[in-house]
Amino acid sequence: MTKEFEEMADYKKKFDKFAQSKYQMNFTTRGAIIAKNVGMVINSKQQRLQILKKVYWEIQKGDIEILMGPSGSGKTTLLSILAGLLTPTAGNVYLLGQEITRMSRTQLAKFRRQNIGFIFQDFNLFPALTAIENVEAALNVKGIRGRSARKEAQALLEQVGLADKAKLLPRDLSGGQKQRVAIARALTGSPQIIMADEPTAALDSHSGHLVMELLRGLAKEQGCTVLIVTHDPRILDLADRVAHMEDGVLK
Ligand SMILES: Nc1ncnc2c1ncn2[C@@H]1O[C@H](COP(=O)(O)OP(=O)(O)OP(=O)(O)O)[C@@H](O)[C@H]1O
Ligand SMILES: [Mg+2]
Repeated sequence: MTKEFEEMADYKKKFDKFAQSKYQMNFTTRGAIIAKNVGMVINSKQQRLQILKKVYWEIQKGDIEILMGPSGSGKTTLLSILAGLLTPTAGNVYLLGQEITRMSRTQLAKFRRQNIGFIFQDFNLFPALTAIENVEAALNVKGIRGRSARKEAQALLEQVGLADKAKLLPRDLSGGQKQRVAIARALTGSPQIIMADEPTAALDSHSGHLVMELLRGLAKEQGCTVLIVTHDPRILDLADRVAHMEDGVLK
């Protein structure tokens, strides 16, 4: 009886181990974006701030996922971690089957250049460069130069409805137009993952929809995975899924 029991227990242990490794394998190879137990703590002089708590998240390739939540809940922090712009104090992040939280700075920089288009909350445009030069600069970083860079930059500005503003400096563009330059810049080099922090906040209804249709087209026709932080209820119907963040906890 005991021997049989021991054998059973042994078998169960082996099976659990197998099931676990199989699960982990799936976990790291299926989703285009995976966060596993991600945490972020910031220690300032007096206090210890827990900005993100045990975030588990899996986003499938070709999906458009929206992240909502009150101001200060940790959305930008999580997005920056998922994009490899910020290192979490706990947990692991996997993009396209590779763990970015294990990469060296150089590996990560290369991975980001090749695979991620990021649209910043405050646009991050170069003030001394025109709209088209801002897009060209992003192409240059990705190894596309000269006439082909100019041609691609022109096409991207056309895609976001800004062809006639190509030669203007950021200071002469409206908030919504700057945002669209930032979007065109994020699309350079056809990244597989696009992450955007409030990409439609400064846009009127029409331009907001134009941008969302563009992102949706990239997801559905080219298999891009799109993650968007937003407060904008007008774009919710274009998402495949909506996640909510509150006090650093993903719900
Ligand atoms: N480097 C930092 N030092 C101290 N506190 C920080 C730091 N970065 C973020 N925080 C705090 O962490 C919390 C989450 O910030 P985060 O920018 O992620 O919020 P958010 O959800 O994007 O807000 P919003 O909707 O206003 O953009 C905030 O309370 C913020 O003040
Ligand atoms: Mg934010």
